[in-house]
Amino acid sequence: MRNIFFVLWIYLASLPIHAQILNSPDQNMTLSFTLDQQGTPIYTLNYKGKEVIKPSKLGFEIVLSKLGIIDLTRNFTVISVTTDSEDSVWQPVWGEEKEIRNHYNEMLVKLSNTDRLMDIRFRLFDDGLGFRYEFPKQKILYDFIIKEEITEFNLAGDHNAFWMPGDYETNEYTYLTTKISEIAANRKKALTRIKTQVPIEDAAVQTPFMMKSDDGLYINIHEAALVDYPAMHLNVEVNDLKLRSHLVPDVWGGKGDVYTPGKSPWRTIIVSDDARRILASKLILNLNEPCQFEDVSWIKPIKYIGVWWEMFVGKGTWNYTDDTHIKLGITDYSKVQQNTTHSANTTNVKYYIDFAAKHGFDQVLVEGWNIGWEDWGGKVRSNLFDFVTPYPDFNVEELQQYAASKGVKIMMHHETGASVANYERRLDDAFQFMSNHGYNAVKTGYVGWIRPKGEHHDGQWMINHYIHVANTAARYKIMVNSHEAVRPTGLHRTYPNWLAQESARGTEFEAMAGLPPEHTTILPFTRLIGGPMDYTPGILQTIFSYHNPKKTKQAGTTLVKQLAYYITIYSPLQMAADLPETYDRFADAFQFIKDVAIDWDHTYILEAEPGDYITIARKAKGKNEWFIGGITDENARTANITFDYLPSGQQYIATIYEDSKTAHWQTNPMSYQIRKVVVTHKSNLKQYLAPGGGVAISIKEVTDKAEMKDLKKL
Ligand code: NOJ
Ligand code: CA
Repeated sequence: MRNIFFVLWIYLASLPIHAQILNSPDQNMTLSFTLDQQGTPIYTLNYKGKEVIKPSKLGFEIVLSKLGIIDLTRNFTVISVTTDSEDSVWQPVWGEEKEIRNHYNEMLVKLSNTDRLMDIRFRLFDDGLGFRYEFPKQKILYDFIIKEEITEFNLAGDHNAFWMPGDYETNEYTYLTTKISEIAANRKKALTRIKTQVPIEDAAVQTPFMMKSDDGLYINIHEAALVDYPAMHLNVEVNDLKLRSHLVPDVWGGKGDVYTPGKSPWRTIIVSDDARRILASKLILNLNEPCQFEDVSWIKPIKYIGVWWEMFVGKGTWNYTDDTHIKLGITDYSKVQQNTTHSANTTNVKYYIDFAAKHGFDQVLVEGWNIGWEDWGGKVRSNLFDFVTPYPDFNVEELQQYAASKGVKIMMHHETGASVANYERRLDDAFQFMSNHGYNAVKTGYVGWIRPKGEHHDGQWMINHYIHVANTAARYKIMVNSHEAVRPTGLHRTYPNWLAQESARGTEFEAMAGLPPEHTTILPFTRLIGGPMDYTPGILQTIFSYHNPKKTKQAGTTLVKQLAYYITIYSPLQMAADLPETYDRFADAFQFIKDVAIDWDHTYILEAEPGDYITIARKAKGKNEWFIGGITDENARTANITFDYLPSGQQYIATIYEDSKTAHWQTNPMSYQIRKVVVTHKSNLKQYLAPGGGVAISIKEVTDKAEMKDLKKL
């Protein structure tokens, strides 16, 4: 008898449950969840009746120390399904909008697998889906190693994809645009710099992964709140048009240590039939935890210049000397021959401070100020960086006083050379040193192979490191700008002192390899989906042989497009990356960089198409000033710029920085005009953008009617 009940129980338990349906608040998005005959969790996603994700599996393979591999992709039963909803508004410390609406419907599915408990929490917004795995506190699943997360995204067609190859160490690639089915064949071509130690066998791509379907759906897959877990890449199963999670391994090959209660990051799918709504989405921020800090008064957006580009264009060096003394074991820098080109010297830094003070910049980044630059980058010798010992020609105290007297701050630079254990050991001393010397922002860097050996930039160990740095920095009221870190996942909501990250190819690649004009029309749909980027725009001298005949590259932009970046590449941390001399030469164009705001009340995405063009208008925080940036790829275009977000009944003066009719990113990049016109909320502007070009506009209220005299009305 007992056996019959048992068989019946097994039979009932293995019956597919009725699909559980969840709709988005506006009813356009529908999620369904079910268990199939094998007890495998399956979800689908539809948008306005179109399939976005076809039936796709959810689950894990895990390793338990005594039992070996456990299959958590089948034999599940449903314990309960509950729903919830949220509609609230919150204020970010800084951002593209002063208020963000968090509006979703939620479904929590509690599952059991031979008494092992795993929940899946779905949140459906008007602009997409977030879901994550949760492992509640339980008796027989205490801690485990992930062998692989089996999250599938089964696509409804052979979409166009904007992608870069999977790599555990770096996201500094250019993008390829191909059909999903062409990714595997093009992966080799895409791997312009293979850095990964562990070969990724499959056709793996990185997230944020952007797609456009033939019937006009824009779909973006990424993750939110990447905490204590490895980053997710996607394997592309080309024949079935299926994407599958591929977590970054640790030194042992494990893909994450989980302790219960524990949870995965959110897997996110942003969807719209309007590309502008992908850029406007706040889904990833909404899925992150609220700000961790009570006092945020010390956290401020920063506009800065830096002792930086002169090293990239071959006019200066980071290192004070060559590496002879290192080979000889000499540690006393007074005994070594100094380079004449060492940029971070007291006199030169004062020159930058003067320039910053004169033109209203908050900070001056100084790279190459500390010992250790002679031989670094993932080597044992990166341990020479101690982050508190300046080179003999960089006078910390004198510069501290000089900067303070001019109302400017120096931005600290911590290049770790990826010797991360060394950095962690010295972190408190380094931040204490900063705090003692008036620094409140640090640019960190992780160039090279991670030490401890075998860990990866995107693995769980490093994920925890980046957050540890942001948290520790906060204790010293320090803001962080991380380079070579994992791509962001919206954690700047929780840790708003983590102002920006690099985590993609930025301006440095203009000098090192060149960037194609389309690069920055893709970035906002990919890298920026997770958070702000320290792109370091503002290169007005776009041909670099001007500085040094050996530098043969040029920017993939016109001069004006560089101005537009201050709007199209959102960041609360914006650099004017070119040399002070360049800005003196192009003083009229530089005015836009001086004027442009870096914190916003509202953002209006006017036009957008990944890989082609972007036009954005933003209203400055707390001010009646608006700024517009428009960019195009290698093709000239006419942007259609509207002004209906301006309050009605008022006239405004718009200063338009535009490519000249003969401008071209390659042949005539620095050809531009500046004109002023009067605009109202009814104005409409058809604006020419040169190949690889852009437009930048600043808009101010008319305070004195005389200013409008002789100006054309739009
Ligand atoms: C790479 C960073 O992206 C760049 O900005 C920095 O100057 C160098 N590393 C040196 O740290
Ligand atoms: Ca970099």
